[in-house]
Amino acid sequence: MSAADAAAFIRPGATVGMSGFTGSGYPKAVPQALAERIRREKAAGNPFRVRVWTGASTGPELDGALAEVDGIEFRTPFNSDPIVRDKINRGEIEYLDMHLSQLAPVAWQGVLGPLDVAVVEVSAILPDGSLVASSSVGNNKTWLDRADKVILELNRWQSEGLHGVHDIYYGTALPPHRVPIPLVKPDDRIGQPTLRCDPEKIVAIVETDGPDRNLPFSPPDETARAIAGQLLDFFAHEVRKGRLPANLLPLQSGVGNVANAVMSSLQDSPFGDLTAFTEVIQDGMLDLLASGSLRMASATGFSLSPIAAERLNDEMAFFRERIILRPQEISNHPELVRRLGCIAMNGLVEADIYGNVNSTHIMGSRIQNGIGGSGDFARNAYVSIFMTPSVAKGGKISAIVPQVAHVDHITQDVQIIVTEQGLADLRGLSPKQRADVIIANCAHPAYRERLQDYDRRARRDSYGLHTPVLLNEALSWHQRYIETGSMT
Ligand code: COA
Repeated sequence: MSAADAAAFIRPGATVGMSGFTGSGYPKAVPQALAERIRREKAAGNPFRVRVWTGASTGPELDGALAEVDGIEFRTPFNSDPIVRDKINRGEIEYLDMHLSQLAPVAWQGVLGPLDVAVVEVSAILPDGSLVASSSVGNNKTWLDRADKVILELNRWQSEGLHGVHDIYYGTALPPHRVPIPLVKPDDRIGQPTLRCDPEKIVAIVETDGPDRNLPFSPPDETARAIAGQLLDFFAHEVRKGRLPANLLPLQSGVGNVANAVMSSLQDSPFGDLTAFTEVIQDGMLDLLASGSLRMASATGFSLSPIAAERLNDEMAFFRERIILRPQEISNHPELVRRLGCIAMNGLVEADIYGNVNSTHIMGSRIQNGIGGSGDFARNAYVSIFMTPSVAKGGKISAIVPQVAHVDHITQDVQIIVTEQGLADLRGLSPKQRADVIIANCAHPAYRERLQDYDRRARRDSYGLHTPVLLNEALSWHQRYIETGSMT
């Protein structure tokens, strides 16, 4: 049926579980038709907002369109849409920023309430009624199982070759019935290639042919290349020490430009026969698969530039042998990350001199995106790495601060911090030892002496000397930025 007719199944106040993960595999027509309906209802004086659950970030046709008409009341678990971000930070949308592996089990627990409608993009509907997911799996299995009604978007733009790429594991259960997940290598297939859905629940099928809309990555600049160089030296050092095998361990790479640049740099490195057990496949990882340096990649979706997305579709016959897409509760599962010994590499907003990391909140209160899968991976990784340029906003902000203004990753979950200035290996170090290394190796020269000065005075005047802090000064750098537009 038409998207407008399908959207009519969604009532004001409904909770809607949408497909979509970092801009791949999200429904494109029904959310826009819903936005149009919300606009009309509002103009007629009828309030209309919905609660939106997804896999992760989506695209302008979903988050952007619904936010533009003030149609989102509640949003979880991850967002990078600028209109939604703005409304969250103005207090107009309630946003629950969750670990991405946890939303499906929490939805099963029932604590988020019932799921009224699932709107899920698929790339095929097979004669037996089973569904081939599209360019992401995300939480689709859970939304199809939990929702009262299901709307499918059948997208012809998605490659037919996606059939066989997915591995949908149906073995998760709530305690006390949980059992070990039988995956011991990133390339293990433990489930089935298709999603299942009770046909009685399917109220609409809408045909579409729009592309996943992603933004191009900025080409790696000097800073990103320097960060990548530091990391490659670190890997080589760990291999020499016998702490990592020559083909490293399964790689997890976070979202963003820096993470993409690091992946691209592995192209010219001595490391081969690599594997990835990660959340998203970005351009850099696709290049590594194409060159053969990366043997295979397990993820839950793609986050590709438009050019890379076309390439993936054109060369699907090659890539489908090397890629496995899983539900995000499996791609990010702490049990599996710990068992496989992933090397986690994630971006950050700021880190403090003790190694606590803020991945999400600018100046402690304005959310940028969300924690995403960084917590799923960082806490359980074999080596947990965070990387960032040492300054932001043209040098007005230091990424290394006396104290982070918001904590996503506590110091125990942060083992390596890398900036273009250098790398701090925090493993085995006490708080004061961490501060010495982080300030010396990672801080930008424009901020280094001021950090050292703060640290010196904290070690003299702090109430306790295990993790010295000057409580009336620790967040003054952020306050100065808010008041003057600069931390300097
Ligand atoms: N203060 C203010 N703004 C900051 C900042 C800071 N300390 N650090 C970064 N920013 C801003 C940048 O200026 C940039 O803003 P712009 O878009 O207006 O130019 C934006 O944040 C993105 O920063 P950038 O340096 O381009 O890095 P990135 O693309 O690598 O993203 C994160 C960095 C932290 C935002 C990103 O990695 C993220 O969202 N992480 C959390 C989720 C996650 O880790 N997911 C992966 C799990 S698999």
